[in-house]
Amino acid sequence: MHRGVDAPRTPAVGGSAAAEQAPAKPPDTGAHLQQRFDALIADDERIEPRDWMPTGYRKTLIRQIAQHAHSEIIGMQPEGNWITRAPSLRRKAILIAKVQDEAGHGLYLYSAAETLGVDREDLLDLLHEGKQKYSSIFNYPTLSWADMGAIGWLVDGAAIMNQVPLCRCSYGPYGRAMVRVCKEESFHQRQGFDILHTLSHGTPAQQAMAQDAVDRFWWPSLMMFGPPDERSAHTAQSTAWGIKRLGNDELRQRFVDICVPQARALDITLPDPDLRWNENRGHYDFGAVDWAELTRVIKGDGPCNEQRIQRRRSAHEEGAWVREAADAYARKHHNSSAAEALA
Ligand code: 3HC
Repeated sequence: MHRGVDAPRTPAVGGSAAAEQAPAKPPDTGAHLQQRFDALIADDERIEPRDWMPTGYRKTLIRQIAQHAHSEIIGMQPEGNWITRAPSLRRKAILIAKVQDEAGHGLYLYSAAETLGVDREDLLDLLHEGKQKYSSIFNYPTLSWADMGAIGWLVDGAAIMNQVPLCRCSYGPYGRAMVRVCKEESFHQRQGFDILHTLSHGTPAQQAMAQDAVDRFWWPSLMMFGPPDERSAHTAQSTAWGIKRLGNDELRQRFVDICVPQARALDITLPDPDLRWNENRGHYDFGAVDWAELTRVIKGDGPCNEQRIQRRRSAHEEGAWVREAADAYARKHHNSSAAEALA
């Protein structure tokens, strides 16, 4: 358990005289703690690990941050698949850097989850046992080099759309982690666009490859934002708590609106015959998303679910010696620091 995780926020006092004059602190009853939490949320202030928080708020954050962290590390697999086959040294170096960034995002996010009193080893166990989710998008195969472009442009683009508002999440450690993640995601999105732009302005075979990748990734990217708000179990409460700032539907619409002109610049057609500008709404209308497919993929029946989780489990097992070595080093370091302090 994180130390002080339930400790209430203490107002700063300006010395002993100020302390003497300060009004008596009201008792920290459950109702008082709840009031203080509600006031921080109402004032759009941040909740920090030291603050009291309702159990539901803590649980919701652990669920969302863990799912997010798992998505980052599982998301390394579809792209890792192309590192050895990148078409040039430059593309290979960029892809390696991107995949490493995703691992880093996982680390920031597991660290943010740990401030809520959970242990990352336990979260990883839950992922490996299929008891926690990760993003549906990573259960689709990467069949061609153009998929690296489509993932960068669409998947990282959708992630940015979703995560920029999360930089203002009411929970401090998650919001701060998101700031850095979003900066790196912007580079990821740009490199994906660049890959697709090169292909879509290349030979007919390259153009077809780029179009095929976008055809396969467009609809699954729209599913990344979650089910429609009316069917979303958590959106209303998460928005009221300032965890999510915008609903699933609004984020999805913003994503569609931003992608249409970008697709035009790429000379790529988005695979939706119903996609058209709606003057009255000031947005693009788009066709029906196959929500049954999202449900199937989330439940484990996507094209690559089994492969992704198997690979993750074996990577975890193969990496056991690294964790043991890191623990041994940390213990040694701790013991020598303690011995120095006593000398
Ligand atoms: N894939 C998998 N599960 C999904 C999903 C999806 N695309 N969309 C929704 N779900 C799950 C939810 O997690 C929830 O499951 P649970 O009750 O077991 O936890 C259930 O379906 C109902 O959905 P809700 O809309 O009620 O859930 P949320 O309010 O949590 O909203 C979310 C879903 C928009 C994905 C939200 O959790 C979120 O914003 N998460 C943070 C961002 C994130 O996880 N991104 C992962 C994308 S990939 C990524 O960032 C990596 C980058 O490198 C590309």
